[in-house]
Amino acid sequence: MMRHRFNPYSQKSMKYVFGNWKMNGIHEEAVALAKAVGTTKPQKYTQVAIFPPFINLHLVKKALSRSSIALGAQDCSPEENGAFTGDISAGMLKDAGCKYVLVGHSERRTLHGESDETVRNKAIAAIKARLVPVICVGENLAERESGKYLQVITRQVEQSVPSLTNPSSYLIAYEPVWAIGSGKTPILAEISEAHKTIASLLYHDTSKADKKTAILYGGSVKANNACEIMATEGVDGVLVGGASLKADEFGKIIEAAGSI
Ligand code: PGA
Repeated sequence: MMRHRFNPYSQKSMKYVFGNWKMNGIHEEAVALAKAVGTTKPQKYTQVAIFPPFINLHLVKKALSRSSIALGAQDCSPEENGAFTGDISAGMLKDAGCKYVLVGHSERRTLHGESDETVRNKAIAAIKARLVPVICVGENLAERESGKYLQVITRQVEQSVPSLTNPSSYLIAYEPVWAIGSGKTPILAEISEAHKTIASLLYHDTSKADKKTAILYGGSVKANNACEIMATEGVDGVLVGGASLKADEFGKIIEAAGSI
């Protein structure tokens, strides 16, 4: 069983700092950025991972070989192998040294029409390949403004998370679509509200820390707001886009995780 948050000797729980590079960086830039990030020494209870484009996974893996920073991919196929031109399977990602894979990022949901069912099938494929899927959910601006955002998040969680899954075999990222790349973030009480709603749908045994699923927040996380966001009730870490492309800023977010 994979244990992410529970340490029998400490009450301190794991904080996750994940960097989603999206479609950025040719080889040389990816190696330089990975090496620069790799010089940061995360604290004991900080799990850092970077998610470069597929084509740079091998090089980034090599550049991180002396560091505790893990590797993740930005998507995977729900299929194991076969005639699926252009797709990459979870098994291939595992073989490339990945530990994590994002599934259902809002850019995949909106730009590639991925449904909750597709996201769930991708998460199942990832777990089967012994990867940890980071299942992304979050409402768009219209859904937030209509006041129906908790219903949207609930539907996404109920339909995107595989049932009967060990709660520590996957992570959730709550990423309000309107906060991604916009410089806008929800107020802390709104983040907490969403995280508590998600947790209430997932946790079946709240007395056991290792039976909980870690829930990350994503959307305009920067060095100057990471600390307060990660200290917010229900937040186990952050999924960082733009700010993960700057080694010094991402390094500050890693440091902030260690200070909580
Ligand atoms: P952002 O992206 O930090 O640039 O807002 C977050 C994400 O899309 O994961």
